[in-house]
Amino acid sequence: MSSSSRLTDMVDFDQKSLLISAASIAFNPLFWNIVARREYRTHFLTRLFGGNRRAACYFLAATIFSLGLFRDFLYERALRHQPSHPLLSTDLATYAGYALIAAGNVLVVSSTWALGITGTFLGDYFGILMDSMVTGFPFNVTDAPMYYGSTMSFLGTALVYGKPAGVLITAWVFLVYKVALAYENPFTAAIYAKRERERAGQKGGKKEL
Ligand SMILES: *[C@@H]1O[C@H](CO)[C@@H](O)[C@H](O)[C@H]1NC(C)=O
Repeated sequence: MSSSSRLTDMVDFDQKSLLISAASIAFNPLFWNIVARREYRTHFLTRLFGGNRRAACYFLAATIFSLGLFRDFLYERALRHQPSHPLLSTDLATYAGYALIAAGNVLVVSSTWALGITGTFLGDYFGILMDSMVTGFPFNVTDAPMYYGSTMSFLGTALVYGKPAGVLITAWVFLVYKVALAYENPFTAAIYAKRERERAGQKGGKKEL
């Protein structure tokens, strides 16, 4: 193996910014899951907003969005401290990078458009449920367009910068989102299952009257 293909030559693990970027990537889903589950159990945010759960959800949405911007800033800063690789520094890699960022953003923006702000940012934990499941684009291409779109943007940015460290970070993003999905999906499914039971109960009740 030539020395330039060794991971430790392609990624400078001594740069603190790399660890900080990885930590911020893991922190964000951890943060929103802790806050959202606490909200579900205690409605502490809704109470903070005088019982207005929509305002509380918008506040959480703004917070998560800002944390995402900060995470992106830390990621790009980390990439600037990392070595480039000739294979990733070609025009092809740069164009592929921009294409990935564009496609990733299409997934993220269209998903937010389809779900709305409260549907995107954990409204279900506040008791703001979607009327029905959204099945159109982008949900007919991927079950988690937010997560996969975001992952694509990370990879695209790595290619645009030409940094192998970015590819490594993207693998970390993918793993973190996989864990987040495994944690979130059963919980939201249970919230909607509860609503279905309540709806069925109401219908049954009306029939008896
Ligand atoms: C997804 O749905 C959109 C319309 O919302 C449609 O144009 C598109 O072809 C669908 N894609 C797939 C892969 O089914």
